[in-house]
Amino acid sequence: MIFETHAHYDDSRFDGDRDVILNSLSENGIGAVINCAASASGNYATIELVQRYPHVYGALGIHPSDIDDINEGFYDWIKSHAKHEKILAIGEIGLDYYWDKDIEVQKKQRYWFGRQIDLAKEAGLPVIVHSREAAADTMQVLKEHHAKELSGVIHCYSYSKEMALEFIKMGYYIGVGGVITFKNARKLIETVEAVPLERILLETDCPYMAPEPYRGKRNSSLYLPYVVEKIAMIKGVSIQEAEQVTEANARALFTKVK
Ligand code: NI
Repeated sequence: MIFETHAHYDDSRFDGDRDVILNSLSENGIGAVINCAASASGNYATIELVQRYPHVYGALGIHPSDIDDINEGFYDWIKSHAKHEKILAIGEIGLDYYWDKDIEVQKKQRYWFGRQIDLAKEAGLPVIVHSREAAADTMQVLKEHHAKELSGVIHCYSYSKEMALEFIKMGYYIGVGGVITFKNARKLIETVEAVPLERILLETDCPYMAPEPYRGKRNSSLYLPYVVEKIAMIKGVSIQEAEQVTEANARALFTKVK
């Protein structure tokens, strides 16, 4: 089965057919999904989704672009809900200097990224990391917070293959989604060539990042076979093997999955 490690089904773009899509995943070979919270309301919605659908799991946390949503009170809320049996990780958390150029906002992002790493360590959960145009600082915050003591995934990986190998050395996985199918995906293809298949996780980031031939449209986990096919081709393995290994990777990282 395909293990989808990064989706946003709480997004309003699924309001019309969320139930139809989520109920159709199993029959299409998508056996498990992690819904990643970003905003405060996304965190509440994630709890509702994991309670409603047996194959939907969740990650709780505040995304760097929603950093105004977090404060001590909400931090405590995440901490208590992280104990839920279907909450597998803290995420998505991290740094985004592409959307936020303001130095003060970036500082705030670093602070709460670090605090949420601490929370993950305390909760015994891995982290799902969003990092855009902030490679060095991401690495630094992870190191400062002794993130070697925990594991996680660098989601929607966009940096160099050398950096990917650094993250892997620290015990992290590399999240690969629709971008791998794009015509200008050279850098990500090089990364997938360079890292072991045993360190790759499948993800969509839906509703964003739809693979070819749906680029620019609303994405969903149903398009993951296009990503699996491309990864299998790059690694020179069968589609079935790419699916099985990435599923085993997800189960090794997200140990709360039954
Ligand atoms: Ni995301």
